[in-house]
Amino acid sequence: MKTQTPPSQQLTRLTLLRAQTLQLLDLATSEDSVQREPMPGFRPILWHLAHIGVFQNYWIIQRAAGMPSLNPTYDVHFDPMKTPREEARRLPARAEMEAYLQATLSRVQELLESGVADQSARREGAIDMQYAVELVLEHERQHQETIAFLFAALPYESKRAGPPPLSGTRRAPSQEIHIPALRVPIGGTRTRFVYDNELPQHEHELSAFFLDRDLTTNAEYAEFIEAGGYRERRFWNDEGWAWKESAAVDKPLYWVGPPWKEHGFFQEVTLRDDAPVSGISWYEADAYARFRSKRLPTEFEWEAAAAWDPNARLMRPFPWGEDHEDDGAVPDANANNVLWSTAPVGTYQGGTSALGLHDAAGNLWEWTASPFAGYPGFAAYPYPEYSEAWFDGDHRVSRGGSWFSATGLLRTTFRNFYRRNFRAALIGMRCARDAR
Ligand code: AVJ
Ligand code: FE
Repeated sequence: MKTQTPPSQQLTRLTLLRAQTLQLLDLATSEDSVQREPMPGFRPILWHLAHIGVFQNYWIIQRAAGMPSLNPTYDVHFDPMKTPREEARRLPARAEMEAYLQATLSRVQELLESGVADQSARREGAIDMQYAVELVLEHERQHQETIAFLFAALPYESKRAGPPPLSGTRRAPSQEIHIPALRVPIGGTRTRFVYDNELPQHEHELSAFFLDRDLTTNAEYAEFIEAGGYRERRFWNDEGWAWKESAAVDKPLYWVGPPWKEHGFFQEVTLRDDAPVSGISWYEADAYARFRSKRLPTEFEWEAAAAWDPNARLMRPFPWGEDHEDDGAVPDANANNVLWSTAPVGTYQGGTSALGLHDAAGNLWEWTASPFAGYPGFAAYPYPEYSEAWFDGDHRVSRGGSWFSATGLLRTTFRNFYRRNFRAALIGMRCARDAR
């Protein structure tokens, strides 16, 4: 880790993040809202709450401090590998889970205050306490995102009222950015918290290419539908066509109509032309790009466009430059769940990358062409189920964070990954093409 964070500061971060998680759950208007299946094939929102606690219990209490688990039954029920989705339906009440989470956090507090953190490095097989806390924080942030897109899918009577989605007009018509041939270092180093899949850092050679400055908008995507995009075989690859036919998909997940309306987070609104399209699978993103005679960028093209600073000749840790997480400043990007919605593309100019990419951080995750795989020399750490288990040829990498994402997840080396048929509120796309 970059610097040794004092345990008191780590504790503050764990406590604040937990308060956010519980506040997020307060969106629910009843116990049933969080106990029901939110989207077909997904676990109830409440499952994620206890899972967050189990993960904290495992990595901090058991693996870093070497102490016994607080609840071995929960350890099994709320481990995605040990209890398959179908068996994770009947859950304890939210109040019981919250008591468990509170007990876990109290134990963590005792451990951090008692200086156990300093000894963890010396015990055989122990995980470094500093690292365990960062891992647990990052994990909770990611499950908050899952909770958010599951809430997005719930009917409105299941959640409290909130603000309408931000609308407005974007500042200028979309353009392409020309990125010259580059040799860039891809991935991160252990100077800050990174996942195993961001390591090892390695040089990558890129040919010149064009990348859309902005995310693909609803208006642009509507043209694909109106041109018969969902009926034209030639836009789809074989697996995409088969998926679309069997899932009977003919529009993005949150579109209603035509005439087009959007199932916004808190209410249905007329489709916002200048907001980025979301709720599309990788197959739909791939087909849309082909309709434009373009393609999806590779994750390395994306990383170079978001991070490369041609003057300093280095990769920036965030599109705007340095981290400012430590001083608590919020980046000029649509992130940290300030709006509860996407913003018209290009609204946040402060987060523009050195090469001119808009919304490289925030607004929506962006599908890339790249299958999720380990970098050359990949080593699973601290557990293979985080990354390696999903190097399966089906998952694709997405980049850039969403309107919900915490600042830490906006780092330019971060790799998110979902199956190609995954559709949710926090993911969209932009197109690229060869410069030849
Ligand atoms: C990378 C976001 C798909 O939510 O399943 C959470 C992250 N890994 N707990 C997920 C994750 C373990 C993962 N995604
Ligand atoms: Fe998890």
